[in-house]
Amino acid sequence: MSAARRVSIFGATGSVGANTVDLLQRQGGAEVYDVVALTGAGNIALLAEQSRALDADIAVTSDPTLLTALREALAGCRTQAAAGPDALLEAASRPTDWVMSAIVGAAGLAPGLKAAEQGGVLALANKESLVCAGTLLQTICTSHGTRLLPVDSEHSAIFQCLAGADRAELETIVLTASGGPFRTTSRDEMATVTPAQAKAHPNWTMGERISIDSATMFNKALEMIEAHLLFDAEPDQVEVLIHPQSIIHSMVRLTDGAIIAQLGPADMRGPIGYALNYPRRSPLPVERLNFADLTKLTFEAEDPVRFPALRLAREVMAAGGLSGAVFNAAKETALDAFLAEQIGFLDMADLVSAALDALGPEASSVADPPDLPWVLDLDARTRAFGSTWVNTR
Ligand SMILES: NC(=O)c1ccc[n+]([C@@H]2O[C@H](COP(=O)([O-])OP(=O)(O)OC[C@H]3O[C@@H](n4cnc5c(N)ncnc54)[C@H](OP(=O)(O)O)[C@@H]3O)[C@@H](O)[C@H]2O)c1
Repeated sequence: MSAARRVSIFGATGSVGANTVDLLQRQGGAEVYDVVALTGAGNIALLAEQSRALDADIAVTSDPTLLTALREALAGCRTQAAAGPDALLEAASRPTDWVMSAIVGAAGLAPGLKAAEQGGVLALANKESLVCAGTLLQTICTSHGTRLLPVDSEHSAIFQCLAGADRAELETIVLTASGGPFRTTSRDEMATVTPAQAKAHPNWTMGERISIDSATMFNKALEMIEAHLLFDAEPDQVEVLIHPQSIIHSMVRLTDGAIIAQLGPADMRGPIGYALNYPRRSPLPVERLNFADLTKLTFEAEDPVRFPALRLAREVMAAGGLSGAVFNAAKETALDAFLAEQIGFLDMADLVSAALDALGPEASSVADPPDLPWVLDLDARTRAFGSTWVNTR
């Protein structure tokens, strides 16, 4: 009998993480998988519930003040409780065969890099680690024989579309975007939208931060940089196409003029399940598309004037180096300030643009894969720049 597959989920209590737990349970749970580590931050009750259900070896909260609460919630079960950044890294250094990286934001970078040293599969939902330190992550994966599999629905789609194609046969990537809740909103109207309005995504149920990033299209901007790095595409090989129904998850144009698309319902269990079962496919509990019910699929050109995040992403791809780390840290700082109602919706792109002007030249001059402290230092200085920018307005 073969040994059970060892799996860990970083960010288990989030939207992607909970969908991953759901799939593991449907595929036999603790009887089939040896669950090594589950992690969360503030949602201790869910983390404990998941750890009991999957009989995890260790449950980690990133918040050290919640260790006692986690211990109490795990009372009577064999799962060990731990807390804090070092505990997250210790959990990420435990041998595994498959890891889901689904912490939100740059907080996922250090655990993701550590997990990439374990070999096996690194299923990457945390696009921020690629944007901030793509060459470092890819170098670690290569040197440790780790297979990096995209979990973002668009990148999973592109990966699937490229199966069997030679890299030289790729003409362009067509990254589809729903357009978010403000697809048809004028720039003047956008100036006054509230966090509550920005959180309401028309098609996908996601965490709060990625939902607002979808409204600004900063999420698509991160995905453009992610696609550029993952598929070794030149900046001008990454197209963005608005497709409000979110049925086509992305497409590739090949050199002979053929276009290959991947379609499916808007359910993250599709791309998560693909990464979990790769290279095989297994039945997934997702709705089956009925083409007769799809009244129409529509498409629109991107609008970099109302959504400057797309233009800024092109600047970042062209500049290279560590520009992505500045872009992401400025974007996260801007999002925090918007959520705290310190700045308006349109100010977020202005802050990112100002940070790229101030720190971009230094960041883009980094040629070789940098080490993690270098990335974290640039991240911290960008956040400090962003806080000053917010406070001096
Ligand atoms: N949601 C989607 O459909 C989707 C699709 C594609 C890609 N992604 C990407 O997947 C990642 C996760 O997105 P999500 O929507 O699942 O986010 P989410 O629902 O907000 O969940 C984030 C997870 O990270 C944990 N967390 C928060 N802050 C942390 C910190 N400082 N240190 C360690 N852990 C922390 C949260 O813990 P608690 O909940 O316990 O506080 C939770 O487990 C993001 O990079 C996102 O861009 C998401």
